[in-house]
Amino acid sequence: MKIIITISIIILGFFYTQAQTEGEWIVPEEEAALLSPFEFTADDVKAGEELYLLNCKSCHGDPGKGNYIALQPPPGDITTDKIQHNSDGAIYHKLKTGRGPMPAFENVLTPNQKWQVIAYIRSFNDDYVQKVAVEIPETAFGGKIDVLVNYMKDENKLQASFIGHKDDETQPIVGAEVHAFAKRKFGKLTLDQVRKTDDKGLVAFNLPDDLPGDSSGYVQLSLGLVNMELYGEINKDKSLAFGVPTYLPPLNEERAMWNVRMKAPIWLLITYHGALLTVFGIIFYILLQLRNIYLEGKKNEED
Ligand code: HEC
Repeated sequence: MKIIITISIIILGFFYTQAQTEGEWIVPEEEAALLSPFEFTADDVKAGEELYLLNCKSCHGDPGKGNYIALQPPPGDITTDKIQHNSDGAIYHKLKTGRGPMPAFENVLTPNQKWQVIAYIRSFNDDYVQKVAVEIPETAFGGKIDVLVNYMKDENKLQASFIGHKDDETQPIVGAEVHAFAKRKFGKLTLDQVRKTDDKGLVAFNLPDDLPGDSSGYVQLSLGLVNMELYGEINKDKSLAFGVPTYLPPLNEERAMWNVRMKAPIWLLITYHGALLTVFGIIFYILLQLRNIYLEGKKNEED
């Protein structure tokens, strides 16, 4: 009885989570607010149409015909409110991440191509008025962004400045989100929270005071702008001596379990070969017993 109840709970739970994923597709607010960096032109709509035929039509069907394929949840016709009610940023996000049967186009379409598909989708909406991302400083595009990192020892803070250059003009990168990491042996450790640059392009991070560094206390830091779609890949690596000096046994040290010099210590060789011999010994013993049974049977037959 208990088993039946447990199984029903598991099955119900499964359908519940299924139903949950088929609910409304919610996009984080800041993603939904994203705008295209360029104004949609007739050429973009045309390029978007080609991309649509190639990547989307197989599921979403011919625009306006409602002949999308029967999937659960249904893909929907791009001319209908189901898709048009989304903000540009929301469509962009849904294209990027995908959900359920809807594939993620993050690495299939470039950011520009994604906006072109959106331009095509919007060409079926007469009420649509495009908003272009105007608040982005010009330097964010095509320009070069210089990152300077500075350690403020007294406050144990990391300060960085992000300054854009374009056509001999200099402009601070204002209001951009920056994240800071410390490089660890495996992967990256996030330091502090994501912070925004101020109107001078400056940002400051609080550093922990108990972070293990190398034997001299150096920590490899990496600072980067979060929004790669807007700024490109802007990262700055820097090594700073604010960590706690930590001794890590090198890979060729005998004492370390993961050393590369004495790969197979004696105790390991003995244990391994001992285990191997035992297993083969048991198999041999069983075969021997089988042979004895066979001989015994034969002897009985002869008697
Ligand atoms: C393999 C089939 C498939 C392909 C290919 C596909 N989609 Fe979808 N799409 C779906 C399905 C299924 C959903 C519904 C997903 C959900 O609601 O969980 C969906 C949902 C969407 C939505 C969100 C609709 C909403 O409810 O807000 C948009 C926008 C969208 N697709 C656009 C596109 C575009 C543009 C392309 C091509 C670049 C594309 N899709 C390619 C199957 C597909």
